[in-house]
Amino acid sequence: MNYYTPEISDGIFWIGSKDWNRRMFDALIPLPDGTSYNAYLVRGSRGTALIDSVNPGFENELLDKLRSLTDIRALDFVIMNHAEPDHANAIKAVMDISMDSKLVTTQKGAKMAQVFYKIPEQRLVIVKDGDTLELGGRTLRFIEAPWLHWPETMFTYVEENSVLFTCDYFGAHTAAGFYDDEVEDLLSAAKRYFGEIMMPFKAKGAQALEKIKGLDIDIIAPSHGPIYRDPERILDMYRLWTAGKTREKAIIVYVSMWSATEKMIRSISESLMSEGIEISYFNLLNSDIGDIARELVDSRAIVLGTPTVLGGMHPLAVYAAYLVKVLKPPLLYGVALSSYGWGGGAVGQLSEMLKPTKIEVVGAIEINGPASDEDLRKVAMLGKELAAKIRSSG
Ligand SMILES: Cc1cc2nc3c(=O)[nH]c(=O)nc-3n(C[C@H](O)[C@H](O)[C@H](O)COP(=O)(O)O)c2cc1C
Ligand SMILES: [Fe+2]
Ligand SMILES: [Fe+2]
Repeated sequence: MNYYTPEISDGIFWIGSKDWNRRMFDALIPLPDGTSYNAYLVRGSRGTALIDSVNPGFENELLDKLRSLTDIRALDFVIMNHAEPDHANAIKAVMDISMDSKLVTTQKGAKMAQVFYKIPEQRLVIVKDGDTLELGGRTLRFIEAPWLHWPETMFTYVEENSVLFTCDYFGAHTAAGFYDDEVEDLLSAAKRYFGEIMMPFKAKGAQALEKIKGLDIDIIAPSHGPIYRDPERILDMYRLWTAGKTREKAIIVYVSMWSATEKMIRSISESLMSEGIEISYFNLLNSDIGDIARELVDSRAIVLGTPTVLGGMHPLAVYAAYLVKVLKPPLLYGVALSSYGWGGGAVGQLSEMLKPTKIEVVGAIEINGPASDEDLRKVAMLGKELAAKIRSSG
C-alpha cells in the first residue's frame, strides 16, 4: 500500500493511522466519526525519534510508514507522552526492531511502560520538566503536564520548529481531515472530546495552559484528530473550557416510561426557552453520551427528569447522574422532575447522588401519576425561577 506520510514541518512527519470504522472508545464513548492515532517521526542530523504510536491492530501500518522514512533499526528514541494503549501499545513492536532505541518518558510513565508494555528498565530514559534531547537541529524539550487525563502525561516541544506534541490534550475523536481548517465541525468534536476526557481534570488542564503560555507555538500536533496549524483556535476554546466558563444554557436530560415525566420536561423546556435560555435536550433512551458530555462543558444548569422505578431512579437516569458526578462539569444549578405511582423515591436518590457536586438545587417537583395542568403550571414557574438564576450569574 502507498502510505501517506506528510511532512508537517521541516523534518517532522505524520505517520499515524486513521481508524474510520471505530465506533466505541474505552468501551464507553460513541465515536460517530471514527478517530485517528497520530504518531510522528522527528528527524535530526544526528538522530531520529518516534513521538507516540498507534492503537493495537495498527502496528504494521506504523512499521511500514516508519520504514518508508528511515531504517527502524537505527531509530534512537521513542517518546511516550502518554501510556494509554491507543498511543503506547505499538511502542513495543517498534522497540523490538530498534534494539538500541530508548524510551523517553516521565517518572510515572517509566513505571507504566514497565507494567503495561514490559519495557526493560535499562531502555528507559526518565525526563523532567524542561529537560531537552538534541537530535541535531531538532531539540526536543519536555514539558510535564500531569493528569491529562492519566498521571504520567507530558508534552514534547520541538524548539527549532515551534511544534508542540500534546497527545490527548487538544485532541478530537475524528478520522476526518488532516489540518484543523479541513474539518468543518472540528471545534464541536474537540468540545465533545474535552467533555468526555478532559473535563474532570480541568484544573490540571488550566495549569498546563499556564505552563505553555510563553511558548512560541506554530503547530499543535495532538494524537487524535487534525493538527492545528492555527493553534490559537483551540487554545482560545481550551482557555474557556478549563476555566469552566458557562453560557446562559440549560441541559435537559430525562427518561420517561409513560410520558408523565416527559410532559413536565416539555413544560420546563418551553418555560426556559420563553425566558431566552438556550437549551439542549436529551431523552436518555436515544441519546449519545458524548453529545451530553459536550453540552455539559458550558451549560450553567441541568434539569434531570426520571420516574420512580423499583423505589428509585430509572437506571438510565442513574447512569446520567453518575456521569454528571464524575465528569465534574461547571454546572451551577439543578432541577429535578419526577413522577411516581405509589411511593416515590427517585428524587431522594437523585439528591443523594448529586450531593458531592456543587450544584445548587433550585427546586424539585415530584408528582403522583400523570401531571395535571396545575402541576405543569408549577413546573413552568420553576422554569422561570431557574431562568432568573441562570441569568443572574455568569
Ligand atoms: C417497572 C416499573 C417500576 C415502578 N416502580 C415504582 C416504584 O417502585 N415506586 C413508585 O412509586 N412507582 C413505581 N412505578 C410507577 C411509575 O413511577 C409511575 O407510573 C410514573 O408515573 C411513571 O412516570 P413516567 O410516565 O415518566 O414513566 C413503576 C413503574 C414501572 C413501569
Ligand atoms: Fe488517553
Ligand atoms: Fe488517546
